[in-house]
Amino acid sequence: MSKIKLNLIAAACDNMGIGVNGTLPWRLKKEMAYFTTMTSKVNDPQKTNAVIMGRTTWDCIPLKYRPLNGRVNIVLTHHVDKIKAEVPEGVVVMPGLDEAVKYIENRDDIESTWVIGGSSIYKAAMDHPCCGKIYLTEIQKTYKCDTFFPSIDKENYQLMDEEDVSNEKQVEGDITYYFRVYKKL
Ligand SMILES: NC(=O)c1ccc[n+]([C@@H]2O[C@H](COP(=O)([O-])OP(=O)(O)OC[C@H]3O[C@@H](n4cnc5c(N)ncnc54)[C@H](OP(=O)(O)O)[C@@H]3O)[C@@H](O)[C@H]2O)c1
Repeated sequence: MSKIKLNLIAAACDNMGIGVNGTLPWRLKKEMAYFTTMTSKVNDPQKTNAVIMGRTTWDCIPLKYRPLNGRVNIVLTHHVDKIKAEVPEGVVVMPGLDEAVKYIENRDDIESTWVIGGSSIYKAAMDHPCCGKIYLTEIQKTYKCDTFFPSIDKENYQLMDEEDVSNEKQVEGDITYYFRVYKKL
């Protein structure tokens, strides 16, 4: 049994949409700050976290923000050699989630692992034996989207309280949302 736990983190609107035209349908600065904090924070200052993403999500991150700083960036693609030649040094390119998990297992400097999208990578992580928790920001608004978060099977996942995640309604401009945490049973 692997010691790795895959934590998923996503923001979705009312219809479970997460993206449109290769970008986020909304601009929520505080939500983005939550993503950065959650994926970056470590208990052991000698370690860093890893973020695993699909090649399209990598493409979606503005050039000035990628690789995501202070985290080991792992990009999944079927075209490893091509993408390896395109990404900056230090970015890890892997042909699948299992390979990424094995890579992380072989490093002792990674504290936690965050799966940051998109759709098929979230689905693969939810079906993976290493899946741990889903950190889902539920935005109380409907946006037109072309990319969606996979449905969460409520028989296998349970809403839980987490000490450092606020239960309170979050308000940004005229948009409200909640930080939810689901635990795999
Ligand atoms: N709201 C949120 O929290 C959130 C989070 C992330 C992304 N997004 C949004 O979601 C959209 C992008 O997500 P997406 O679902 O379209 O794409 P994605 O999952 O990020 O990337 C898809 C690509 O990943 C690679 N891939 C997928 N499964 C793989 C596997 N099993 N093994 C190896 N490689 C694999 C393939 O790359 P190749 O084609 O190179 O083989 C595939 O084309 C954007 O609109 C983005 O803004 C939103």
